[in-house]
Amino acid sequence: MNSKHSKVSQFGLDPLKMPRHVAIIMDGNGRWARKKLMNRVKGHEQGVKTVRHITEACRQLEIPFLTLYAFSTENWQRPAHEVSALMNLLVRFLKSETADMVKNGVRLNAIGQLERLPDKVRQALDEAMGQTENNRLLTLTLALSYGARAEIVQMARVLADKACRGEIDPQQIDETLVGQHLYTGKLPDPDILIRTSGEMRISNFLLWQIAYTELFVTATLWPDFTRDELISILQRFQQRDRRFGKVEG
Ligand code: IPE
Ligand code: IPE
Ligand code: MG
Repeated sequence: MNSKHSKVSQFGLDPLKMPRHVAIIMDGNGRWARKKLMNRVKGHEQGVKTVRHITEACRQLEIPFLTLYAFSTENWQRPAHEVSALMNLLVRFLKSETADMVKNGVRLNAIGQLERLPDKVRQALDEAMGQTENNRLLTLTLALSYGARAEIVQMARVLADKACRGEIDPQQIDETLVGQHLYTGKLPDPDILIRTSGEMRISNFLLWQIAYTELFVTATLWPDFTRDELISILQRFQQRDRRFGKVEG
């Protein structure tokens, strides 16, 4: 048995049925803070700690892709002071975590309308992505200013533009080409999508990519989400029969 096998087996997991890509809608920071009679921003601060723990857990579990929904295109409509607190938190997170990401083999990636982010966030992102670009153990993708509909619109524009310029024939457009022109072009589709805090909705996240993703909704608020709960979701995932529309094999 090699080290990979023993590592996940100790958590009651089958090494042959591990997901490659886990995506998470990190929801419930505000409610966590309200329950404790604190400002919503405190909930976001606590949420950042969970990001750190869950990233580390995925690395230990040798899951190669983790994608976190951190800020949606719709979240720009929140009060300016909350948006600005979130942006500041993001810069702080990027600056404080880059060294650990480098050390731990984590590659940082970002998807979304990144051009809408304040300059200081884009600079911190570019810096962190540059410093971690050769890491291979875990690709941590942050969905920032991300909306799946906007992503699909930009894909349509790019493909239409290429067709107009004669670079592609419209008949060549197939599912592979569409997938390659989304922000997630280089990522596999998620095997698991987790949403914390109980809401049964997708909120404009990865609409194309989750066609056959296994969904898990937990009532746990994001700041309270733990490695143990992630492991229990992975155990339940391994018991599911993924048929992809076929007859069970
Ligand atoms: C998720 O927590 C973080 C972001 C959307 C940025 P929320 O801020 O949505 O928390 P709730 O849903 O109000 O509890
Ligand atoms: C989804 O959470 C977006 C993120 C987690 C970044 P929201 O709190 O924005 O979603 P709704 O408003 O409940 O649909
Ligand atoms: Mg929410």
